Amino acid sequence: MKGIVLAGGSGTRLHPLTLAVNKQLLPVYDKPMIFYPVSVLMLAGIREILIITSPEFLDAYKRLFGSGAQYGVSFDYAVQPKPEGLAQAFIIGSGFVGTDNVGLVLGDNIFFGANMSPLLQKARERAKGATIFTYHVDNPAAYGVVTLDGNGRPLKIVEKPKQPDSPWAVTGLYFYDNRVLDIAAGLKPSPRGELEITDVNQAYLDAGDLHVEPLPRGYAWLDTGTQDSLLEAAEFVRTIQHRQGLQIACLEEIAFLHGFIGRDQLLDRGHLFEKTPYGQYLLRLAAEHK
Ligand code: TTP
Repeated sequence: MKGIVLAGGSGTRLHPLTLAVNKQLLPVYDKPMIFYPVSVLMLAGIREILIITSPEFLDAYKRLFGSGAQYGVSFDYAVQPKPEGLAQAFIIGSGFVGTDNVGLVLGDNIFFGANMSPLLQKARERAKGATIFTYHVDNPAAYGVVTLDGNGRPLKIVEKPKQPDSPWAVTGLYFYDNRVLDIAAGLKPSPRGELEITDVNQAYLDAGDLHVEPLPRGYAWLDTGTQDSLLEAAEFVRTIQHRQGLQIACLEEIAFLHGFIGRDQLLDRGHLFEKTPYGQYLLRLAAEHK
């Protein structure tokens, strides 16, 4: 399976922060925002990852991530000239995806919770259909909302409903079989001029092939699109990391624990950042795994 991180957008709700910097490069406490969604793909065991961003920030992402060898993964890069919708990721990324299945994660979404890896692997291993993850939210009107029947099967998905009939929001993490490339290629722009991911999900729903995984209540799903939500996400990460002494979205740790890199590489990265708690954490991890 291939993975795509969509990290373009215009970030208008974060102006003036995002006038000169791409949103997904902003810090969420101690690391760039994009580390969090990349960590989700890596936890799913995905090692071929395409990063899509707007043309002016392509070089910044290449500087940040390079080839991906430091995490034992491979990064490819592509541009989205204008933010014309989430589903455009599959048109831009079709050559990269080839004949594989694909996971898409939005660059500004943060997921955190116990047993994330098995939950993701289950979706990844589903050869046919689509899997979306839903989250119980206080303000469903801001999201795509799924209505379920009595057996937990999806009945309909409505984008930003004025009067939501369920509290279950569609999160920014999606797994699709290869049909998604054709479905995306056949989409027409919505009234707001975007190729909508909701229309992709609706196509799978119509075909009886949409799986919905509700994230349990112990999970955190944070988005970072406004000043307040960005600061809240940073405070959340800081609180958990300080309390547990464990990092959220430490890519080297995930790579090491999943066997993508060895102890020597972990040590190299620790030395590179040894003036920071992040680097010291990597060195401690290496010391614990002699
Ligand atoms: P949004 O938060 O919907 O849009 P935005 O990031 O442009 O911000 P704003 O609403 O403040 O203008 O985007 C969700 C995520 O998807 C975010 O990580 C950016 C990304 N995105 C793209 O990369 N391309 C797109 O065409 C769209 C619509 C979003």
